[in-house]
Amino acid sequence: NILDIVVNNDLELDGYGACEGTLTCSTCHLIFSKDVFDNLPDKPTEEEIDMLDLAQERGPTSRLGCQII
Ligand code: FES
Repeated sequence: NILDIVVNNDLELDGYGACEGTLTCSTCHLIFSKDVFDNLPDKPTEEEIDMLDLAQERGPTSRLGCQII
């Protein structure tokens, strides 16, 4: 998933993925363009939606990067 890409490539995204994909933070919040969002392979789970509610500047095409396979 996107979290693995960030971690495996040592990308410097400050604080990204603080909970390491356990859905207890929202630091992996990503905002996609509508096209990309519509073509993501899965839909957010209830748990992801609850955590997204806490994300800053959440928009209609927001997802948590660690939940996207
Ligand atoms: Fe914490 Fe995604 S890394 S919710």
